[in-house]
Amino acid sequence: MDVVISNAVLQWVPGHRELLTRWARELPAGAWLAVQVPGNFDAPSHRALREVADRPAWRADVAPLLRRPPADDTAVGYAGLLTGAGCAVDAWETTYVHLLPARVDADHPVLSWLEGTALRPVRAALDAAGWADFRAELGVRLAEAYPVRHAQVHFPFRRVFFVARTGARAEENQ
Ligand SMILES: C[S@@+](CC[C@H](N)C(=O)[O-])C[C@H]1O[C@@H](n2cnc3c(N)ncnc32)[C@H](O)[C@@H]1O
Repeated sequence: MDVVISNAVLQWVPGHRELLTRWARELPAGAWLAVQVPGNFDAPSHRALREVADRPAWRADVAPLLRRPPADDTAVGYAGLLTGAGCAVDAWETTYVHLLPARVDADHPVLSWLEGTALRPVRAALDAAGWADFRAELGVRLAEAYPVRHAQVHFPFRRVFFVARTGARAEENQ
């Protein structure tokens, strides 16, 4: 049986909706796609990142490196996409709260989190001084958006999940 699993990565692939459609059409009937993508484009963390990137100091070099607004990154959106490609689809989304420990002698935990994901291309594009300035400015905004409570930061995270079986709708119509 053919199974494609993708966890928290397709959002970085330009044109991933077209890729999903191609997989759905080209895999043998009865194959499975099981995918999770974050749906955090409009989260305060990512809005803060775009705001800092859009400041004059960074607009030319950093803003173009950030993800474009995703097209319809909802459970309904992916269900529609893959149903249209002949799949039977089970899709859902959820928001859960990461409880990130916050220490007074450490960076804001959401800043550290972003350094492993959305900030990677930013860090690669800036020199040491530019990177220090950028992360300092972003850190201020993140501290406002995600205050520390009881030595923790509550970091809500929306994720979209879908499981699709290829060719299933053709079978239904037989
Ligand atoms: C949450 S991990 C998921 C990895 C793996 N699929 C798993 O389930 O463990 C996200 C992946 O996206 C990559 N990644 C993070 N930020 C990225 C960026 N800005 N551009 C491209 N890839 C990125 C990471 O290197 C990592 O491989």
